[in-house]
Amino acid sequence: MALQRHHLSFLVIIISSVACQCCHGTALKDPLDLFDEGYSYVDDGGTFKDYIKQSEDVLSLKKFDNLGDDYRSPSLKMVNVNDYGAKGDGKTDDTQAFYKAWHVACSSPSSGAVFVVPQKYYLLKPITFSGPCKSNIAVQISGTLEASDNPSDYSKDPTHWLVFDNVQKLSVKGGGTIDGKGEIWWQNSCKTNKKLALTFYKCHNLIAEDFTIKNGQQIHVSFQDSVNVNVSTLTVTAPENSPNTDGIHVTNTQNIQVSSSVIGTGDDCISIVSGSKNILATNITCGPGHGISIGSLGARESKEFVSGVKVNGAKFSGTTNGVRIKTWQGGSGSANSIQFQNIQMDNVTNPIIIDQNYCDQETPCKKQKSAVQIRNVLYQNIKGTSASDVGVQFDCSENFPCQGIVLQNINLQHEGGGKAKASCNNAKLTYIGDVNPHCP
Ligand SMILES: *[C@@H]1O[C@H](CO)[C@@H](O)[C@H](O)[C@H]1NC(C)=O
Ligand SMILES: *[C@@H]1O[C@H](CO)[C@@H](O)[C@H](O)[C@H]1NC(C)=O
Ligand SMILES: *[C@@H]1O[C@H](CO)[C@@H](O)[C@H](O)[C@H]1NC(C)=O
Repeated sequence: MALQRHHLSFLVIIISSVACQCCHGTALKDPLDLFDEGYSYVDDGGTFKDYIKQSEDVLSLKKFDNLGDDYRSPSLKMVNVNDYGAKGDGKTDDTQAFYKAWHVACSSPSSGAVFVVPQKYYLLKPITFSGPCKSNIAVQISGTLEASDNPSDYSKDPTHWLVFDNVQKLSVKGGGTIDGKGEIWWQNSCKTNKKLALTFYKCHNLIAEDFTIKNGQQIHVSFQDSVNVNVSTLTVTAPENSPNTDGIHVTNTQNIQVSSSVIGTGDDCISIVSGSKNILATNITCGPGHGISIGSLGARESKEFVSGVKVNGAKFSGTTNGVRIKTWQGGSGSANSIQFQNIQMDNVTNPIIIDQNYCDQETPCKKQKSAVQIRNVLYQNIKGTSASDVGVQFDCSENFPCQGIVLQNINLQHEGGGKAKASCNNAKLTYIGDVNPHCP
């Protein structure tokens, strides 16, 4: 199926952020205002302005009407999985019941359908909720969805468990839990074959809000080839030592906001990879894990682009990275118009890092001339402690130096006390206000 063609492109880039006791009152005003401010410092040739305009068009108001908050409306069709044979005892396979209920909800011609998962435990094999549907769908998960932990159930498509494929005007909420039962996969973790617990594929006008997702097989929630996505108040958890368990993964997706979410896993908190544009993350708490990451980009000499990323209001605790941009040698394309602001770092190993020599493979990566261009990156109001003595690291390409890097009001100390250092290669930097540490 179409999805399988895409999973190879999933080199994981994680952006992890930590939710924020520290977010200043402004953090959650209209995110589009946030996008507007502060971009005057570099001329990006107008590209970013276009994204803003586009996002105003798409995110504006009416498009999200009728997304299913008003369950009292008599015209809404309620579809309860229990009425289609789901047992909810945590032992019986409820997959077929979910398929039947989905079919009814999705083909309901009324002004909307609510797919109801009551407060019980539902055991599910891999399942794809396919659209397009006849009306808006609200998926109301009050109970717990549990993944089958029998590997043979995944033989058809080993990379996905729950998929929403091509469903428009979808909301998924309800305070429930999605449990990927990842333990059996972590033991035989395979980097080249990413497993995804929950995937939204080609979903336009999507809300994912107020649920917990835990112990994902690998990546917890992936937004792929989607447009206009609001994600909020998610809790994502997996053990610190679970491999490749990214929290939220964004790939080839435009206009996505992630807010007020708490993410602690064994890999990236949020990872943003190629084809993603206009991403806003606010009030994010990250840790443990690998931090918020743009990239990796440019693996296997690919041409990849990410632009218009804003992280405003995040707290990282004990993560291996804070805000990271990582690209492989030999790639091309760009990572452009990126802002990291109002961020608290607590004992983070690499709080601020750009790595254009990223090499995540067994054999050493050979030196190559081309690189993904990194430009227009603002770091503003970033404070706290570094677990390593290098708090700021820019390791940029000789042939494609990092351009338009602005550091404003930075204060990073070494966790043990004393100053943190900065290490900078091939980066064009501007300092505004008090910046500590400075490049030598
Ligand atoms: C998604 O976020 C945008 C911008 O904050 C907002 O205008 C829109 O109403 C949100 N949609 C929903 C359904 O919450
Ligand atoms: C930030 O996120 C946390 C965790 O979801 C939430 O409890 C808090 O209310 C959020 N803060 C704001 C200002 O929205
Ligand atoms: C800081 O992090 C390091 C390693 O990441 C850890 O060994 C140390 O215990 C942490 N310190 C505190 C105070 O949490």
